[in-house]
Amino acid sequence: MAFEARALKEEIGSAVRTSVKDLLTPAVAAQVREMLVQRGVLVFRGLNLSDEQQVVLAGLMGSVRQEGEKGIYKITLDKNANARRDYLKGSFLWHIDGTHDDVPVFASLLTGITLSTMGGQTEFANSYAAYEALPEKMKQRIAALKVVHSVEVSMRRADIEPSEANLSFWRNFPDKTHSLVWTHKSGRKSLVIGCHASHIAGMDKAEGQQLLQELLDWTTQPRFVYRHEWTPGDLLIWDNTGVLHRVEPYPLDCGRMMHRTTLLGEEAFA
Ligand code: OGA
Ligand code: MN
Repeated sequence: MAFEARALKEEIGSAVRTSVKDLLTPAVAAQVREMLVQRGVLVFRGLNLSDEQQVVLAGLMGSVRQEGEKGIYKITLDKNANARRDYLKGSFLWHIDGTHDDVPVFASLLTGITLSTMGGQTEFANSYAAYEALPEKMKQRIAALKVVHSVEVSMRRADIEPSEANLSFWRNFPDKTHSLVWTHKSGRKSLVIGCHASHIAGMDKAEGQQLLQELLDWTTQPRFVYRHEWTPGDLLIWDNTGVLHRVEPYPLDCGRMMHRTTLLGEEAFA
């Protein structure tokens, strides 16, 4: 058998067991991709992929975004390794990557290289499943709503210093308005919410923010969440278009280092 998979939670996550050799074949990578969209997040314990192997796997699953060194972007708060580390503190809050783009990234592959001894565990919430389970009345209430997403709002919520340099960097990203309910080409629907969701367009600000908070609390309740406790060499892959994620805060100088490869988006928010 090329791989074995078992559900981690009923509504999110599967653990996959396979050999690196089998995984790096087009047939298995295609099956992994399909499972990813069904399960939201896939966990390969202690797989220990090399950087090159990780980029090969990503290339078999989609189009690799050119970032970092040869498709490997280093996630770390260490000041010597990452000049824009401040910005990564935004990942301590529930978010979707790339809501400042029209076409958000499809998925990310993340290998744990050096782990934090304090915090640093990563959580995922299935926003497809959360939408599906909403009461019919709420589905009707939110069907036509649009949400304004702001990089500045998300950075301020993450308590990142609004210095002149940071403010001018954040303001390079214009606010974006996306439908609250994303109807994907597949017909499935997910919620586009998170720390970057500033307010609801055309609604009283406080009322809109209260509704967004209610939906975030709903989506991140335990039944829709998988929490990953890292062991070295783990590979995680998440479908950024259907799950929210966050990392538990960890100390700036703890040396935590993750290697990420990102797949370009294939579908605009709609
Ligand atoms: C990311 C992210 C979480 C982590 O890479 O987009 O949010 O655990 N990472 O580092
Ligand atoms: Mn992220």
